[in-house]
Amino acid sequence: MKNIEIKDIKVLYSEEEIKTRVVEIAKKLNHIYADEEVCVICVLKGAIMFATDLVRELNMPLSMEFIRLSSYGHATESSGKVNAVDIKLPDLNDKNVIIVEDIVDTGLTAKFLLDFLNANFRVKSLKFISLLDKKISRKTEVEPDLYGFDIDDKFVVGYGLDYDGKFRNLKFIGYADKALLV
Ligand code: IMP
Repeated sequence: MKNIEIKDIKVLYSEEEIKTRVVEIAKKLNHIYADEEVCVICVLKGAIMFATDLVRELNMPLSMEFIRLSSYGHATESSGKVNAVDIKLPDLNDKNVIIVEDIVDTGLTAKFLLDFLNANFRVKSLKFISLLDKKISRKTEVEPDLYGFDIDDKFVVGYGLDYDGKFRNLKFIGYADKALLV
């Protein structure tokens, strides 16, 4: 694992661009759900910034749940296996559920979560929202219902996303040259 520093990271999407996109996504959700109650499930740790910014733009009555999954064993490579680190949820039967993720990469996490919810609850409606969509890495048929930005073949950090636990606190979404990564 290389020791990447903030100076090595280039801005891909700025703080302003992220804010604008979060408001656009929230507008769509406000329209879809109007006064219906929703349960927003934030997938930790990566989606923390996106989910907390997004819910503050939502107008409908809502509750929030936080779950923790992990699939990244080594630096920038998905292990291909999703672990439910903490997935305790209340009764979601007959609820409108919105899952908020940081990025859909292979799609394995999204598939694991959707399968888990479908196996355990009969929800009223289910939407999968992701800040980023890295279509090039997809290994499942899962697609987000709404997403913020497309990402090509880059490993991105910032605004919740990390490299070896670091850079979650950056206000922008950035990337380092592949040569700098393992
Ligand atoms: P999946 O491969 O779609 O299952 O993605 C699993 C998780 O890997 C995501 O929720 C992220 O936390 C992490 N991940 C995937 N791509 C990136 C990236 O470019 N930067 C940081 N984390 C990533």
